[in-house]
Amino acid sequence: MHRKFNALSSTILTLLLVATGWAENPSSLDSYQKTGRFGELWGDGIPIHIDAVAMERGRTRYMANCAICHGMEGTSSGGPTDITSLMDPRVRMQPDGELFDIITNGRKKMNGFSPALTDSDRWKVVAFVRTLQHRQNQASGTAPIPLPTAMANEMAAIKQKQPPTPVKNSPASNQRKTTLKNDNETKASHLPEG
Ligand code: HEC
Repeated sequence: MHRKFNALSSTILTLLLVATGWAENPSSLDSYQKTGRFGELWGDGIPIHIDAVAMERGRTRYMANCAICHGMEGTSSGGPTDITSLMDPRVRMQPDGELFDIITNGRKKMNGFSPALTDSDRWKVVAFVRTLQHRQNQASGTAPIPLPTAMANEMAAIKQKQPPTPVKNSPASNQRKTTLKNDNETKASHLPEG
């Protein structure tokens, strides 16, 4: 049963990769790594190796750059700038590539973090945020943040070792793309990287 499913999903994966040219064209992985996109589509998957050191880097970058608005656990919301909780189901559903793009370019009232954070650091922050979200699925946000090694292991468990794959844009993210274009709202200012 399980085997059959794995064989099926790896066939689908291969078809997808071939269809998008990823298999023959590793440079699209390079571009995913810089943009979070495969062409017009967001990708899902973290294109860099996440071990305990990388997870710790993601945690410290998150604490220095994001926690001031989103809280140490990612749960802050509202306030004068209308902060979105990172635990919001909508944010959880966003593909990794989209999350990467939000950190890179900002979104609506939030400013982007390029070049303050390198591509690699932004992926590490994505990994850290995913782990926070996963953890809060289990406990209700009260457990202390585990050590980097435990977080890296948890990450490996959430994202099995698979190459990043293109995913369909959700209607919500397509809609947001359109709103973004017309969007010149004043952005919340953020502190430079500490
Ligand atoms: C100065 C405050 C501030 C900082 C610092 C900040 N954000 Fe935000 N963030 C916001 C606000 C405000 C919103 C809501 C934007 C809106 O809807 O207009 C937001 C929204 C988001 C969203 C949801 C976007 C969506 O699709 O609605 C994500 C994800 C996010 N932030 C991640 C991060 C990460 C990761 C960092 C650190 C690298 C960070 N933010 C740093 C203020 C901040």
